[in-house]
Amino acid sequence: MDYLSEVLKILEGALKANGSMAVNYAGLLADKLERDGERQQARLLREHLARAPKALAHAQDASRGISLGQPPVDGESRLNTIDISHPQPDREALYLPSAIKARLEEFILSVQHHDQLAQAGASLPARLLVYGPPGTGKTFLARWIAGRLGLPLLTVRCDTLVSSMLGQTSRNLRRVFDYAQQSPSVLFLDEFDALAGARGNERDVGELQRVVIALLQNMDALPDNCILIAATNHEQLLDPAIWRRFGFRLPMPLPDLALRKTLWEKMLGDYLPTKLDLDELASLSAGTTGALIQQVCLDSKRDAVFKGHRVIDENNLFRRLGLTLAIAEGKRLATVEDEIKWLRLWSPKRFSLRVLASLYNISTRQVTTVVKETESDASQGRKSE
Ligand SMILES: Nc1ncnc2c1ncn2[C@@H]1O[C@H](COP(=O)(O)OP(=O)(O)OP(=O)(O)O)[C@@H](O)[C@H]1O
Ligand SMILES: [Mg+2]
Repeated sequence: MDYLSEVLKILEGALKANGSMAVNYAGLLADKLERDGERQQARLLREHLARAPKALAHAQDASRGISLGQPPVDGESRLNTIDISHPQPDREALYLPSAIKARLEEFILSVQHHDQLAQAGASLPARLLVYGPPGTGKTFLARWIAGRLGLPLLTVRCDTLVSSMLGQTSRNLRRVFDYAQQSPSVLFLDEFDALAGARGNERDVGELQRVVIALLQNMDALPDNCILIAATNHEQLLDPAIWRRFGFRLPMPLPDLALRKTLWEKMLGDYLPTKLDLDELASLSAGTTGALIQQVCLDSKRDAVFKGHRVIDENNLFRRLGLTLAIAEGKRLATVEDEIKWLRLWSPKRFSLRVLASLYNISTRQVTTVVKETESDASQGRKSE
């Protein structure tokens, strides 16, 4: 049977007395039948849907075939626990090392061909765990996947889901999982460690255990073809039982030299000057993230736009990178002199006296005086060691 998964969802909706779920999937089935040329069958289904009680009428958005009712709210704060968005496919590109990209494509294929794989006994539940340092693109990846699959993204900020009211968290969790099953979507649990931290390493051990157990139960009850993505910066904190439930795990590493080069090149796009030394840029940005590279590129592009230039200024780009790195390392550069000293120390090759003078609009003699101070500071430091 071609559309077994839709039929099963409609049945599930009926058995759980979840009208929106049944209506949404019936609408989706009608759309798919229509696409296959089965107009008569699609019409019959829609006629039945038209007779659905008024309260359910909003459930199906005719233009998309799917729609979501009111998202769940936290019983205590009354804030939404889910944020719904509709990412566009491939609007922004994602750059990853090839092995990781390949695994990601496997996940997408296995979601797209779930029924076929299930028939062959080779399906894996659609569960993806993404982990890695901040700024490596985990949240971005979830958006990208939803865009590729053409599905709405239901983002749950796990830290806000964890309610201060005892027992409320498990209830919030159940509502979120129930909601995600109403129609095809990507359920995304961001900052997942807030929810799935290992049992027993927190203050309120009892509550945390209950939350992890509730999470395990909800994950187990979630049909295999419902897509769940979770992201964390602290994978070492995850409970092993939770970790095991993700058949697909994607590490998001800090970009290596080759990937940094690609990120600079692509993120600068049309604003890339033809003779820019990308190798130097990639090597000076060792240890940074895609997020930092993107920030420097956007800042430099804005500079260019304000100045009416068609490409970014190379030395200014290096300066922005140097200063952004200094801030990221917690350095306090309060004055122009501090900036000059830091840039000179960071990359003497790039920041010659002449380049510094032109960047800061001062004479090379003034730069020399500042730089000499740095050198005498350094030699004082050496003497006192
Ligand atoms: N590999 C990448 N390819 C394309 N863009 C990237 C990449 N890595 C980071 N970015 C850019 O950096 C921005 C910030 O990344 P994102 O917020 O997804 O990081 P994160 O891993 O979720 O960080 P955190 O752990 O702090 O939540 C993204 O919006 C994206 O534009
Ligand atoms: Mg994130």
